[in-house]
Amino acid sequence: MYQSKAARRMAVFALLAASLAAGSAMAQDKKWKSHMSTDEPDKLYRHYCAVCHGPDGDGQTQARFALDPAPRNFTNAKAREELSRDHMLQTLLKGTLTKDGKRTAMISWKDHLSPEQMETLVDYIIVRFMGGRPADNVHDHNDPRHKGHDHSNAKKVDYPYGLKPDAARGKTVYTASCQSCHGANGDGKGTDQRVAQIKPRNFNDQDFRDYATGFSLFSTVSNGRGHMPSWDKSMSNQDIADVSEYVLRTYVTRKPLTAAK
Ligand code: HEC
Ligand code: HEC
Repeated sequence: MYQSKAARRMAVFALLAASLAAGSAMAQDKKWKSHMSTDEPDKLYRHYCAVCHGPDGDGQTQARFALDPAPRNFTNAKAREELSRDHMLQTLLKGTLTKDGKRTAMISWKDHLSPEQMETLVDYIIVRFMGGRPADNVHDHNDPRHKGHDHSNAKKVDYPYGLKPDAARGKTVYTASCQSCHGANGDGKGTDQRVAQIKPRNFNDQDFRDYATGFSLFSTVSNGRGHMPSWDKSMSNQDIADVSEYVLRTYVTRKPLTAAK
């Protein structure tokens, strides 16, 4: 097909303009550079955070010798007292400053990570390193660490990674994978031969009922504890959320499996 030189040039210009416009819309809309998937939170954490905070979240890295302040240890009681989910999200968005207003090694990640990636990373820290128990929301803006934080969009989240659990499905998971140890009535007297020796948790205990939340159950079931196996290799995050919600409703909040929260 014949095209005049001018027409061809017009076509090339149009293409160029369109791709530039698309490019700049993308740059405005998604300034971050990373496109790593949020489906594998551990990979995301290892890629961006572990170099300073350590694979086990305890901050015991070589980087700590060069940094003042040193990277946070997420695993101690102090972290569970001070770091709420919102505060950590705001930290990722804004970075932190020293008392005299200088930037620390904890930079703002907003040009590098998407909002979804930031939420995933914070949830990963809570599940993996904080036993599913972050600080309650801290809204004290006089605390210098919260200066400039905006909690106006802060939402309460019961489960990590945006999961919406289905307790009725969780019952099936419980029967298949948990009942042999924890028992049909959650009393820790299942049919597994090791039960007398390893003492699975009795979910009817008051101290368990006082303490358990969706996030804390999700965390224990994922990571395991003592003689309790970890399930994150053999189950999907959805299965873990479902079975956690089943245990929560059956023994803690004692709500019907299918009714709204
Ligand atoms: C280059 C080193 C470095 C990297 C990489 C890094 N951090 Fe940090 N992080 C720090 C330091 C240093 C602090 C302590 C800052 C302070 O005390 O003000 C910190 C503190 C934090 C805190 C606590 C903030 C507070 O108010 O105490 C959180 C949450 C955090 N980092 C999350 C992350 C996440 C998630 C990543 C991965 C995206 C990450 N960090 C990557 C160095 C780093
Ligand atoms: C091999 C036996 C065994 C199986 C199977 C098992 N658990 Fe456990 N579980 C244990 C033991 C033992 C403990 C007590 C661990 C400890 O605290 O030392 C425990 C503790 C727990 C806790 C901790 C409660 C607390 O103190 O906060 C939860 C939650 C839990 N199990 C849930 C589950 C769920 C859900 C499943 C099924 C996906 C499951 N367990 C399967 C043995 C088992």
